[in-house]
This record gives sequence, structure tokens and C-alpha cells, in this order.
Amino acid sequence: MGESVLTAPGVADAAALLRDAGLVRDGGRLGMAGASLEAIAARIGTPAYVYAAEPIRARYRELASAFAEIPHRIHYAVKANSTLAVLGLLADLGAGADIVSVGELERVRRAGIPLDQVVFSGVGKTEAELEVAVASGLSSINLESTGELELLERVVAGTGAAAPARVGIRINPDLSPVTHPYITTGSTGTKFGVTPAEALAMASRIGANPRLVLTSLAMHLGSQLLDPAPYRDGAVRLLELRERLTGRSRETVSAIDLGGGFGIRYLDEQPLEPARLAAAIAPVLRGTGLELHVEPGRFLVGSAGVLLTRVLYRKRSGRKTFVVVDAAMNDLLRPSHYQARHAVVEVVERGRPSAPVDIVGPVCESGDFLAIDQELPGVEPGELLVVLCVGAYGYAMASNYNTRARPPEVMIDRGRFAIARPRETIDHLMWLERRDPFADEAP
Ligand code: LLP
Repeated sequence: MGESVLTAPGVADAAALLRDAGLVRDGGRLGMAGASLEAIAARIGTPAYVYAAEPIRARYRELASAFAEIPHRIHYAVKANSTLAVLGLLADLGAGADIVSVGELERVRRAGIPLDQVVFSGVGKTEAELEVAVASGLSSINLESTGELELLERVVAGTGAAAPARVGIRINPDLSPVTHPYITTGSTGTKFGVTPAEALAMASRIGANPRLVLTSLAMHLGSQLLDPAPYRDGAVRLLELRERLTGRSRETVSAIDLGGGFGIRYLDEQPLEPARLAAAIAPVLRGTGLELHVEPGRFLVGSAGVLLTRVLYRKRSGRKTFVVVDAAMNDLLRPSHYQARHAVVEVVERGRPSAPVDIVGPVCESGDFLAIDQELPGVEPGELLVVLCVGAYGYAMASNYNTRARPPEVMIDRGRFAIARPRETIDHLMWLERRDPFADEAP
């Protein structure tokens, strides 16, 4: 196929990488899910996030069918991409949601995900958030500390709710899967979850409170995990803990929640296929009568998004060649924040020789890069590139740093494309600000 990404270090299977995103090269021109990326750039401008609906649906179905023999629920981790059009697509497929703020709660409500299919995770829920969570009748409020349980006890004492609030306890299983240190969460020494001993004490307190009911034991090991073994080991630990529960909580736990973190292919990774995961977990769960809950974010949406960007300049400095593009670290933070590597390919292949370049944005920081030492054909100003695998933690982590408007988000479905969120304007960036903050003060 002569795919430029083929020559990038670490890319073993460029065809698979493109296929995951719904990208097809036809006569040298890159299309996505039946739409022309050049047409999108011409109509909507660059930079722009572009998502393909069908690969997201395919991922959801792949997961659901891998777990078909286990009673299960898929709670999409909204933080990965909380755009309403993405949530709406997952709502239509029957997904539940994993949320971490009342903002995300409002998003899933507007997208049409039933609130009794929503799990509220997070280590720092506020009193106001717990109040909204209780009033919303969520599937589970996953507690992460005894202090949070105490606060929840006070919140439910003040409500006249007919049904007890369903809660889970997030256990830190003290497993250390291999991933980036910023996104490992399931080992001792991170801020997440509680020890099994603390969980047992919390469970008996919950069991003794008629306004609360313990329905799940949860964990989340980290993100971008490629090996199913830690999920199996974690499930074993959660089941051991369930055996040690006493009192009412022993009877009421109906689910174990193994979190998210299923790894995808960015370059040459062997992704964590749902079938491998299910094969590892199913034997552990069989016969327990428990429902399996999972919270994938990246797995469902990561591969289905690209960042479309235009080359502004080429320049050299010392031995380095820089390709300056119109997307920057404020649009896509992952490369500079996690040293994450995303493949970049040209939209129109022109058959020019490749050489290693740094692909950088206009932001005034040396840390503003999309790719370092990426093998790229000799692209010229005005030409289009796409950064692959940015559907998860792309737009969701974008900022307005350097007073840059966030890019638009475009959805492609059935060969057509439409704007899911327009590009911000400069007015949007300043609409809440006041030039004279003391102007309204009485003299
Ligand atoms: N459940 C919980 C409790 C989580 O904290 C997370 C992610 C997930 C589920 C979903 O994880 P996923 O399936 O998407 O890996 N910004 C980072 C990733 C941070 C993940 C935080 N927690 C990145 O760009 O790689």
C-alpha cells in the first residue's frame, strides 16, 4: 500500500491501524468511513477532530459478544470522550456509563443513557455531587474512602428517598500492571480505592445502614493494559473479599466491576482483544451468580478518531527537521503529557521519500509536539496530515492554552459527515470574563 506510516518506527501493522479507524486509502487519498478527509478539511477547516461512528459501534458489539456468556453490563467511561454525539451513539447501543462528575452526569442524562445504568467513580466526590447522585438513583456510587462513606451517610440521612442508595466499594487490589505511571491506579501508593481490610469495615457499616445497600465490589487497574492476567487476578481478589463479607452486605453484592483500561493499538501494540479478556475472566466468574461490570473508555472510542491538521511550515534547526502544523498540545495533550506516540500519516500520498521529523504545533513551548522523530514523507505547507487514534482523551483533554479555540468535532456515519460540535470562537473563550472585575462593587 506504500503507506507512509509503514516506515514509522514501531508500526508493525499499518493496515490494522488504518482499519481500526475506518480509514481507507483509495488512489493515494485517505478516506474515513466513506467520507473524504479533504472534503471535511475544505468545508470545516483544520485542525478538526473527526470520528467514525461505525468503528465505535463495532467495538461495542465486539465487547458485548465476547462477554455474551457472562451476565454483564458495559459502562462507557465518559471521561475518554464526553461529546454528546459520541454518548448518543453509545446510548443507542444500550451502553451504561461510568462518570466522575456531575457534569458528566448531566451529559449522560442529555444523551439518553438511563441513570440506573450509571456508575459514579472518583476519589473526590463533593457533598453536592453525592446529593445529586443519590437523588438520581444511579446504578452505583463507587466509594473510595471511609471519609466518603461518612459523607454519604450524612447525605442519605437528610433525604426522604424511598429506596436505599446503591453503592460499590472500589478496592485497590495492589496489582501493578505495566503502563505509564500517570495512568496506573490499582497498586498501593496511588490515591485510588481502599485496602481489603478497609473495604470489609466499610461493607459492614453499609450493611448496617438501611438507607444504603452494597451492590458491587469494584476495581480499576489502570489504562492501556495489554495483558488480561491482571484482570483475572483482580477478579480473584474481589471474589475472595466477597467471601469475607459479613452481615447484610454479604447477601446484597450482585456485581463485580473490573473497571476499564483495555489497551488498543497505537503503533505496534497487540491490543487487548475482548475475546482474550473474556477467556481470562469467565472461568473465575462462572457459578458465582455475579454480574460483571466493565468500564472501558479508550477501547470503545480511541481508534475511531483522528485529528486532521494542515502543515503550516517546514523548518530546520541543527540536525532536526520540524514540520509545523496548525494543531498543538492544547488540542492533543497526550504526546507532551504522557510521551504518548501517535502515528501521523499524510492525507494525500505523493510518493515522496520519508525522513524523520518532529511534528510540532504553534504553542510557545518546546513540549508542544504531536510526534518526535516520526518518519514522514516530505510534506509541504498547505498539505493535510492526520494524527491517528485520538478518539479517546483527545478532545476531552483539550484546553484553550495560548487562547486557542478548541477545534470542531465531526462525526462520519453512513458516508456522510456532520458537525457534532463547532469550532469555538474567540468570543466563546472570553464570554465569562470581565475586563473590570470590580466594576459592580458599591463605592
Ligand atoms: N474506570 C475508571 C475508574 C477510570 O478511572 C478510568 C480511566 C476508566 C474506567 C477508563 O479507562 P480506559 O478504558 O479509557 O483506559 N488521560 C489518560 C488516561 C486516563 C485514564 C483515567 N481513568 C490517557 O490519555 O491515556
